[in-house]
Amino acid sequence: MRKKLRRAEFALLLLLLLPALVVAGAAKNNAVLRLMKAKVIPASTVVFEAAAEAPANGAGWQAALQAADALAAAAEELKPTPRGFAATPWQNDVAAFADAARATRQAVARRDAAALEASNGALYQSCETCHTDYPPRAVSARVSARP
Ligand code: HEC
Repeated sequence: MRKKLRRAEFALLLLLLLPALVVAGAAKNNAVLRLMKAKVIPASTVVFEAAAEAPANGAGWQAALQAADALAAAAEELKPTPRGFAATPWQNDVAAFADAARATRQAVARRDAAALEASNGALYQSCETCHTDYPPRAVSARVSARP
């Protein structure tokens, strides 16, 4: 009985401590965070929206093309492994992100909505994979966009 109670108490304690542990284990890097906020988040929002509903006109496709270019540029900037981060899987995660950005650009350049939908899944997955490997410091600020 007593033992059971302790186990329950321990489970409760773990539950309470877990969010703190996640934050403590967060992959903090100001340059990466700035890049996420300045480029990756706004550009991916434009792309996710274009994939959800194909742009209605040339201006919309042009905006999506610029966004795809911004993602490719961001992938380029993310290539050097940030200080204090493990090179693996960082390099693989960046490569997957770069590939998805490239596929997105090709789909948008061809104004191919079906291809964009496909590349979008890979793009979203690349965000998720990297954030699982390197959790953002603000747990509440995880990617909220959905493909
Ligand atoms: C190669 C790794 C990597 C990829 C790919 C990546 N991110 Fe991030 N992202 C990070 C890291 C690391 C942080 C946390 C930086 C910090 O907290 O210092 C972060 C933080 C964030 C945050 C939290 C921002 C905040 O205000 O706290 C959001 C939102 C985000 N990324 C969106 C995205 C989206 C959307 C994509 C894909 C289109 C993406 N990220 C792709 C590494 C990545």
